[in-house]
Amino acid sequence: MSDDNTYDLSWDEWDELQRPAAATTDFDAVVETAISRRGFLSGIVAFGSGAAVMGAGTLLSSTSVEAQAAGRFGFDPIAIQTDNTIHVPTGYSWSPVAKWGEPLFSDAEDLSQDFGVGVASSDRVFGENTDGMETFVVDGRQVIAVNHEYVNTKINLPQNADGAVLSADDVLTLQNMQGVTVMEVAESADGWGIVVDSDLNRRITQLTPMAISGPAAGHDLMKTDADPDGMTILGTMNNCGAGKTPWGTYLTCEENFNGYFGSTDADFVAPDGYARYGIGAEGRYAYEKFDARFDTSKNPNEPNRFGYVVEIDPSDPTAMPVKHTALGRFKHENAAVVIAPDGRVVVYLGDDERGEFLYKYVSTGVYTPGGPTDTLLSDGQLYAAKFDTNMTGEWLALTPEATGMDAAEIAIFTRTAASAVGATTMDRPEWVAVNPVAVEAYCALTNNSRRGPDFTNAGGDPAVAIEGSPNPRDANNYGQIVRWRPENDDHAAIDFTWDLYVMAGNPTVHDDLNAGSDNINEGNLFNSPDGMMFDSTGMLWIQTDGDDSNEEGYAGMGNNQMLAGDPATGQIERFMTGPNGSEVTGLAWSADKRTMFVGIQHPSAPFPDGDGMLARSSIVAIKRDDNALVG
Ligand code: FEO
Ligand code: CA
Ligand code: CA
Repeated sequence: MSDDNTYDLSWDEWDELQRPAAATTDFDAVVETAISRRGFLSGIVAFGSGAAVMGAGTLLSSTSVEAQAAGRFGFDPIAIQTDNTIHVPTGYSWSPVAKWGEPLFSDAEDLSQDFGVGVASSDRVFGENTDGMETFVVDGRQVIAVNHEYVNTKINLPQNADGAVLSADDVLTLQNMQGVTVMEVAESADGWGIVVDSDLNRRITQLTPMAISGPAAGHDLMKTDADPDGMTILGTMNNCGAGKTPWGTYLTCEENFNGYFGSTDADFVAPDGYARYGIGAEGRYAYEKFDARFDTSKNPNEPNRFGYVVEIDPSDPTAMPVKHTALGRFKHENAAVVIAPDGRVVVYLGDDERGEFLYKYVSTGVYTPGGPTDTLLSDGQLYAAKFDTNMTGEWLALTPEATGMDAAEIAIFTRTAASAVGATTMDRPEWVAVNPVAVEAYCALTNNSRRGPDFTNAGGDPAVAIEGSPNPRDANNYGQIVRWRPENDDHAAIDFTWDLYVMAGNPTVHDDLNAGSDNINEGNLFNSPDGMMFDSTGMLWIQTDGDDSNEEGYAGMGNNQMLAGDPATGQIERFMTGPNGSEVTGLAWSADKRTMFVGIQHPSAPFPDGDGMLARSSIVAIKRDDNALVG
């Protein structure tokens, strides 16, 4: 792979090239028909003024709206930027907390600009490409658990031409630089930083042993030569978004696991189920050439052991992580946990692939503070969302009766189960965020940049014919955020109502539906919403992972960024811009809520160290200069 430029692509970009999926989505058709029926389309241009987009006063209870004061942005919005640093509003400052290659333990070698991180230290340092994260307080100490989604081989193997993967040691280095970091952090006069050698520091890599829970545990499809019981898996991979349980554990979500597997045998016939998950003949990092575990011709069940949500106890570095198969196997984005009124645990889950689905898990047992939690993520019901054009929807249970599959098959081939019940295909569900001050949830549908006539679905649902008036956007280049409110203010309920919180667009370039919804204006342009978190006050923070060319349809959008959105008014304002080339992803707050921790993934060199230095994915701290609350 060293003779092409695929190493320069983000993982999402690379994955899309491997598996072009649905040419259109149900959800797109549902939105189009819903808008048309509600009469907001006197002409296409009128879409932007439609209440269906803003929704706050039309579809949702006014109680949630009135509970939140308008105009509560505590900062002066900033302009776009195209440079190689971070910008925050006047009165705020930022500083790095942890950078790729930074030692977590004093016995790890410092990063070399010529050789990166040597293999011997690669599981003792902060990994690459920071993504979802959560903060915890353990014995009064501040802990960050954070994902390292993937690696850029040119950065991690700078001694190899074009970052080519040439040896087992190269593979081991890459396997160690991904996964999860758990680390104690502390604030001093110099700002926040890693507490080196803290007994809470831990690296979880693609080799860390982890247990399996739920319906797939011990199933034949989970067994390998190295694990004949199908009960212990080595490692977690492509850890994207995150989540946090009320009982103080971290949830890390395995996304594009398919890209790590390949076959050294050209005659290998892929088993059923590979195609739907995009498991191909060649892995992105050539693991299969140096580590037989990733060679599907030798270990055809190994890919069945990835694509799950993994629970990690950040308070105990010796605790074995647990893969929860009851939450399904797909390209998990994040895991948004909320407790239903009766105490059941609800987890919202997106599958980030064009033409795949939005999911919800509801536990059988109930959570009680201090009570047992062992079965709360291993025994429950998984659902997939169906959105109807009358602005209602329902959660379709993935049961053996409804799918014709047994419980283990549903857990392992969840996409197939959701297709069987007729769930609504979506434009790449990224993060789900649950409003803490109103009973509603939001999902970023980042974009569907390949909608069009030249792709057919390679494994997902067939393309859906669109009835009625034209598709609102032939190509969804900008993304949108859908919001739903469960019946009876109960996130465990089957029924919900929905609307769009925002449809991103560019009114300076387009005068049709690509101008976006009414709450998009020249001052807050963005594309491809991805990371989303609510702060404790009910403000929605939106992070982007999109086209940062700042040209043509993306003119005026600048680098990827983080914005704040008021759920009540729909107002959205730009808070932060990232360095060029980067995605802004991952957000958490210090215990005193005077610091925001924000992730910068795949920046261009030389962020943040200056001229001549390697690009280092980093977590940064953002504070107000007066040390007031920031969330
Ligand atoms: Fe890892 Fe869908 O973002
Ligand atoms: Ca993402
Ligand atoms: Ca993305």
